[in-house]
Amino acid sequence: MKAAVLYQAGQPLVIEDVELDPPKAGEVHIKIGAAGICRSDLHVIKGEANHLMPAVLGHEGSGTVLDVGPGVTRVKPGDRVILSFVPYCGHCHFCLTNRANLCDRHQATPGTLLDGTTRLHKGTQRIHHYGKVACFAQEAVVPETGCIPVAPDFPLPQAALIGCCVTTGVGAAIYNARITPGSTVAVVGCGGVGLNVVQGARLQNAGKIIAVDISEGKLEFAMRFGATHSVNPTVQDPVAAVKELTGGLGADYTFEVFGSGETVQTAFNAARKGGTVVVVGLAPAGEYASIDPIALVRQEKTLKGSYYGSARPVTDMPVMVQLYQSGKIDIDGLITRTYRLEDINQAYKDIDGSDVGRGVITQF
Ligand code: APR
Ligand code: ZN
Ligand code: ZN
Repeated sequence: MKAAVLYQAGQPLVIEDVELDPPKAGEVHIKIGAAGICRSDLHVIKGEANHLMPAVLGHEGSGTVLDVGPGVTRVKPGDRVILSFVPYCGHCHFCLTNRANLCDRHQATPGTLLDGTTRLHKGTQRIHHYGKVACFAQEAVVPETGCIPVAPDFPLPQAALIGCCVTTGVGAAIYNARITPGSTVAVVGCGGVGLNVVQGARLQNAGKIIAVDISEGKLEFAMRFGATHSVNPTVQDPVAAVKELTGGLGADYTFEVFGSGETVQTAFNAARKGGTVVVVGLAPAGEYASIDPIALVRQEKTLKGSYYGSARPVTDMPVMVQLYQSGKIDIDGLITRTYRLEDINQAYKDIDGSDVGRGVITQF
């Protein structure tokens, strides 16, 4: 089957035939239907995040079950599914305390399936599975706990986006921060994930939602997704601007949704005394944010991370499906470009385009 393989950071993805072994116990063989162009894969492509190579990337995906390995009970051939990039073991401390997004077994097996082996290879060379999804390919083998069934007519591109940016962004607002009605919110970075933080804040009835982005196009998107104000850090100091828009206080909740030390600092400094700072973006490995410890104490700010929207994919992705179907969140408006798998390198070149909400591969 055809896949986009990354052999080395800094190199383009290579479209080529690779072999995919059948699913083992607890695994599911998927025909990929859609795959989103998320910045997390780009971090790996650029070498900003470390990963075992070679690898098939792609962690925002959906598809149809082709067949299942022994013991699989949750899905059957023909089912349409959202793929979760944090499948879980069900036995570790975090799984047992309702935080399956932090599963130990998942984190201990990067680049492979939960048993520590790969199904992808080219001859004798093993190929790693990014996020246990590896959906930049025609097919995938994934753990059963990474499959979230949807109705047979649920659109595949929208299902794919629920697999990462929707759940990560909306979840950060509603499950992690638990924004309270009427509060002020600033979102630093309004790409695919940040736009979903914006609409999550709108869902929580935030009073003011301030979008902060260096791209005017993304700021326009943010206004359509529920932002009430926009700030471009290339034109004005973002911390001063957020303070000015919040009566000199700073925002009740700030979110970092780009992934850099600098934007974490912006989010930290733009929060009011007693405010909450939620870091969603993944900064390049080795990069640090400089936080004034005195400000942390004397201003009683809360600084916290949110992984996968602090959601439990199996129960919370169906919530995202419901919010979409009832018109409470917009996913259609995010999908601005569709691509063929062959065009994936171009899709990653386009990611910073001002007219791109989310690119999605729909032809494999
Ligand atoms: N200040 C504000 N916004 C910025 C800045 C900056 N200094 N630099 C870049 N941005 C904006 C970009 O213009 C873009 O709109 O951040 C946005 C990032 O959006 P995407 O590239 O679509 O990234 P996304 O897929 O949303 O992921 C964001 O979340 O899951 C993580 O790994 C992911 O770190 C990444 C982050
Ligand atoms: Zn993602
Ligand atoms: Zn676990």
